[in-house]
Amino acid sequence: MMGSVRAITVLPGQAGTARLDDIPEPPLDDGPVLVETLAIGVCGTDVEIVRGDYGTAPPGAERLVIGHESLGRVLDAPAGGDLAPGDLVVGIVRRPDPVPCGNCAVGEWDMCRNGKYTERGIGGRDGYASDRYRIRPEYAVKVASDLDQVGVLLEPTSVVAKAWEHIERIGRRATWQPSKVVITGAGPIGLLAALLGRQRGFAVTVFDQVTDGPKPGLVHDLGATYRTDGLDDACADADVIIECTGVSSLVLEVLGRTAPDGILCLTGVSSGGRSLTIDAGLVNRELVLGNDVVFGSVNANRRHYEAAADALDRADRSWLGRLITRRVPVEQFADALVRHPDDVKPIIDFSKTP
Ligand code: BGC
Repeated sequence: MMGSVRAITVLPGQAGTARLDDIPEPPLDDGPVLVETLAIGVCGTDVEIVRGDYGTAPPGAERLVIGHESLGRVLDAPAGGDLAPGDLVVGIVRRPDPVPCGNCAVGEWDMCRNGKYTERGIGGRDGYASDRYRIRPEYAVKVASDLDQVGVLLEPTSVVAKAWEHIERIGRRATWQPSKVVITGAGPIGLLAALLGRQRGFAVTVFDQVTDGPKPGLVHDLGATYRTDGLDDACADADVIIECTGVSSLVLEVLGRTAPDGILCLTGVSSGGRSLTIDAGLVNRELVLGNDVVFGSVNANRRHYEAAADALDRADRSWLGRLITRRVPVEQFADALVRHPDDVKPIIDFSKTP
């Protein structure tokens, strides 16, 4: 159809409504940079949206274009700017709230105070899972041209770049010479958190349940240790724990378990609805007597995307490539939204535009 693009859309709040639609060409209002989509990464958030458990459509619309992890190529950009046709770009997910709060006002939308932010492909704003999209240049981050096969990993990397930045800022409250890092969960977030930990020269141990598939080898090839048991002992020694599963029992298992002055960063978004009993007094005692910090971390601002682009640029391309375990043609997008046993990061391939 002339004047239209293919887009993966859902009716937010309703399961089983995802479909490949024809929608009008992206509106000029979205920005002067026109981008052709090459790939869209799929994560737990997308699965929740497609299940009808998360996500909202843009104001006045019924359907939401999904896709917040993206890689695209610039087709058109204003002359004299930082972007030119042919550049590889990744779109930032969050937009500041319209008030704006103190953080959104200075570009720290990842720390929005009033919850009125929007997120492309997730909440109140169409995403990137369409043949073409438009964007304002300040929300498009350039990636090295030889990252064309793996640049779609930038968005999840930005999430861990922010987590690491905050860990380091918290660490500066006193003299702090961390050396041991524990990561729970060897999904994309856990593995990318491990990559950034290794790039900082730390001894990293990654815990996961599976004993086969690609995860143990991916961890090993980072020079990190892969373990399926012994979490309690490893935590007792850890300066930093990054919890990347959101599994409530695991969150409780690592809470207050770091070495003295330890930092526990929580990155997993749990679904809730499950009650567990804890000895709150004991946990409090461990946190206080250990000067421990527990904090949550979500999303990323432009500074973190740039740090992430740097981290990917320094990483081994073939290791990054192994994180992408399936490339599903856009016509079969539904298959990318279903977990396969050996999945790390499935992506939806838009590169063969008809
Ligand atoms: C995205 C973040 C987003 C969060 C909450 C995650 O999957 O990577 O950018 O802020 O979901 O919506």
